[in-house]
Amino acid sequence: MLSHKQLFLLNTAQTSDFPRLLEIVKAEGSFLIDPNGKKYLDLVSGFAVSNLGHRHPKVIEAIKNQLDKYLHLTVYGEYIQAPQVLFAQKLNEVLPAHLSSVYFTNSGAEATEGALKLAKKYTNKSHIVAFHHSYHGSTHGALSVMGNEYYKQAYRPLLPDISFIKHQSFENLEVITNETACVILETIQGEAGIRVPTEDYLKALRKRCYETGALLILDEIQSGFGRTGKLFAFEHFDITPDILLLAKGMGGGMPIGAFIASKNLMDALKENPILGHITTFGGHPVSCAAGLATLNAILEEDLISTVEYKSNLFKSLLTHPKIKEIRGIGLMLCIQLSNFNQVETVSKKCVEGGVIIDWFLHCDDAMRIAPPLNISKEEIKFACNVILKAIDSTSE
Ligand SMILES: Cc1ncc(COP(=O)(O)O)c(C=O)c1O
Repeated sequence: MLSHKQLFLLNTAQTSDFPRLLEIVKAEGSFLIDPNGKKYLDLVSGFAVSNLGHRHPKVIEAIKNQLDKYLHLTVYGEYIQAPQVLFAQKLNEVLPAHLSSVYFTNSGAEATEGALKLAKKYTNKSHIVAFHHSYHGSTHGALSVMGNEYYKQAYRPLLPDISFIKHQSFENLEVITNETACVILETIQGEAGIRVPTEDYLKALRKRCYETGALLILDEIQSGFGRTGKLFAFEHFDITPDILLLAKGMGGGMPIGAFIASKNLMDALKENPILGHITTFGGHPVSCAAGLATLNAILEEDLISTVEYKSNLFKSLLTHPKIKEIRGIGLMLCIQLSNFNQVETVSKKCVEGGVIIDWFLHCDDAMRIAPPLNISKEEIKFACNVILKAIDSTSE
């Protein structure tokens, strides 16, 4: 009989020659557990998904309750399904008043696709402004606004009429004109290696969008749901988007995303043509039930108020001559090392020591720290010890 590892390599599509090949049989709280019972402290959270840790009891309970009622019923937007409408209502409650209309999707990339289509439809323009080193997903539209040629070159032609500008460059804001449909930006750039903009830059960007009529799309797929120490990262900067993108942490481990706008804006998807965006599984009732339970748990457990303290604890413990910088905000952090060899060695040593840590798509000389928001003080201390020992072991 073939092992799971052999079956994985044989029958499931591989997208690189160096998958991690770690088999996980169970996950609980901040830990992943392998077939030998070895526990790994998860500092990646499935890439900023498990903000509540793995299998949070309230999320599991909501999923089980929904399983007893119904699973998929019809394509999004036809029947009235309590988990969808209650989750949308809760999102409306916690978001600025104008972000009142929620279109649920399957994923982050689909939220990006929907938002780009909505902006083009509403403004009747096609020019899109995106950022160098950005990541908004891997489908054709989302890939078109990705700021890294390496990942795009093989898939051209992609969407036309896209300009890329430098993050934090005030001069580059002039690229946004009256011809621009939208500007798409991660509020905190994630895969670029955690780049936090300044408040005056985001305000200038917001102003330029108002002046030119370009819609501002903020991608909070990674930074949302408490990760940065606010429910949504834009709250740090005193600005709001025209369209907000959510996914990842939204479903507490279940697949779901959303693009959210004002009702007036979203109504552009209703006519000429009707059915401006169609999705079969978007807003799946089980995912929506999990999403509502997740959001409620984040708020009820007051997790967000603990994030800054935990962030500072990581920052104060992770001091080492080979660490060039700890960047980031809240529990969206990055350890800047010197090169990929170091990063790879540290990552391997950390796994041996029982800590999962990895790097970024557009920044391979830095390491990601994105633990569950309810990680404990002791777990943080344990993780930092393992990371420091791993860094010690690097030769450079
Ligand atoms: C900022 C950001 N936007 C969009 C996406 C795409 O989300 P998904 O993988 O659910 O399509 C990601 C995924 O890593 C992301 O980090």
